[in-house]
Amino acid sequence: MVDTVNDTSKQIKEQAESRKTTGLEALAFGKAAPQVSDKRMINAEADLNQILPIKYDWAWGAYLNGNANSWDPNEINMAFDRTLYQSPHGLTPDERMIVERNLGFFSTADSLVANNLVLAVYRHITNPECRQYLLRQAYEEALHTHAYLHVVQSLGMDESRIFNMYREIPSVATKAAWALTYTESLSDPTFSTGTPENDQRLLRDLIAFYVVFEGIFFYVGFTQILSMGRRNKMVGTAEQFQYIMRDESLHLNFGIDVINQIHIENPHLWTPTFEAEIIEMIKTGVDLEYQYAIDTMPRGILGMNAGMFKEYLQFIANRRFRQIGLPEQFPGATNPFPWMSEIMDLKKEKNFFETRVTEYQVGGALSWDE
Ligand SMILES: [Fe+2]
Ligand SMILES: [Fe+2]
Repeated sequence: MVDTVNDTSKQIKEQAESRKTTGLEALAFGKAAPQVSDKRMINAEADLNQILPIKYDWAWGAYLNGNANSWDPNEINMAFDRTLYQSPHGLTPDERMIVERNLGFFSTADSLVANNLVLAVYRHITNPECRQYLLRQAYEEALHTHAYLHVVQSLGMDESRIFNMYREIPSVATKAAWALTYTESLSDPTFSTGTPENDQRLLRDLIAFYVVFEGIFFYVGFTQILSMGRRNKMVGTAEQFQYIMRDESLHLNFGIDVINQIHIENPHLWTPTFEAEIIEMIKTGVDLEYQYAIDTMPRGILGMNAGMFKEYLQFIANRRFRQIGLPEQFPGATNPFPWMSEIMDLKKEKNFFETRVTEYQVGGALSWDE
């Protein structure tokens, strides 16, 4: 009996020792300050509570850019949307389905992303400036959930029906269920990086969340809602989505930098088998998002149809492949929605609180990566 207890505690101790630095280790009093050369994206042993000296300028830059994009969902006027949504003939049934299903998907998607960041990803990224941005991103995901909550309440929607859609409507549920399979191992308290197999798992799961979930799964919904805004319908909701999309662009670009940096520092992880697995995973993401386009928009409306979404998703996926150094899989795909880039032409330097943008046509030059 005593031996069993001793064996178990020895095992726990060994597991704990095999885990990499978390930032909560006992203080190493008297130890020298970390050097840039000690810092690594994963499996670092440098002190995680000392952000300086910065090694990854892009991570600190992402944090500053995120701060410069601050906004507040409560500041966007939702009165016009409420009147339109409440009016029996304000929206067609197809338009109503688009608004409701997208709020159903997004109202829980950002909580899922936040939980993955805080409970899974954060622990395994061993770099303080990246963690600094992850904290900013986590706040922005909370802000996005706040924005969706604010829209649902402002419109006077049936709250529990919208928020529970991801457990009731297959097209909404499928994407969330897919993503959950890519956070299982990272969120397991016994999971630790440090072996090629586990490091690949971390990399794969980062690609699933940043490249597929935030980089593909959001784009049908964004396009549909922004298309309504362009036609002067649900303009407040569309404006909320506009600011969310601007934040998401930064999340995606940060995620791609993280993935590429891990790749550079650990080239042995990027095997032909791993590449093939990632290509298939992204292609599956495109299929799921295309299915979502069909389910949220069974008939063509607002100048859009399912065929255009197929092309758009292939166009976006090609870009994602290139961004992480993989070959394009959909040769010749073009962008059927060029206005998606133009619509986001908010001046990047525009301060949300000083110069509120109330019309999409008001524009400047936000550098926008979709
Ligand atoms: Fe978000
Ligand atoms: Fe995000």
